[in-house]
Amino acid sequence: MPKYTLEINGERTAIDAAADMPLLWAIRDKAGLTGTKFGCGIGQCGACTVHINGAPVRSCLLPISAVDGSQVTTIEGLADSDQLHVLQQVWIDQDVAQCGYCQAGQIMSAAALLNQKPKPTDDDIDNAMSGNYCRCGTYIRIRKAIHTAASFYDAADKASSASNEQEAQA
Ligand code: FES
Ligand code: FES
Repeated sequence: MPKYTLEINGERTAIDAAADMPLLWAIRDKAGLTGTKFGCGIGQCGACTVHINGAPVRSCLLPISAVDGSQVTTIEGLADSDQLHVLQQVWIDQDVAQCGYCQAGQIMSAAALLNQKPKPTDDDIDNAMSGNYCRCGTYIRIRKAIHTAASFYDAADKASSASNEQEAQA
């Protein structure tokens, strides 16, 4: 079986897998990181969102052979040790989640948005989050939480977050 190497949350990780194994299963079943969820499996719901080299992707669609050598950040790698990412803290403070199933993907998409646009408008948020579905209908709370996080998300946060991702991927 081929062997692939990913930098997952800063850990160089060797994974034996078939070339067509979706990255999602490599993350969950091979690396043991189960925060990233399976929803639809066809790139429609966003539950499986992770970052590849800092950009949000649907991990259910990407074969591991297409991302060999990439830097992967999952929800487990967003925090800086025991310091939660500002989005994670606001999510908790504002009780954003209902069942919670979609929320790792939501936060990963929101984190990518804030890295690109630290002060997003409602339209920016709606556009960036449009591929993340929530069957519990928490969209209003998600948008409010992103605005709140953005209010704390100064240049230092951005640098710290970017650094976390780079460290996670170094
Ligand atoms: S599980 Fe990947 S987009 Fe739904
Ligand atoms: S919180 Fe239940 S699916 Fe989003």
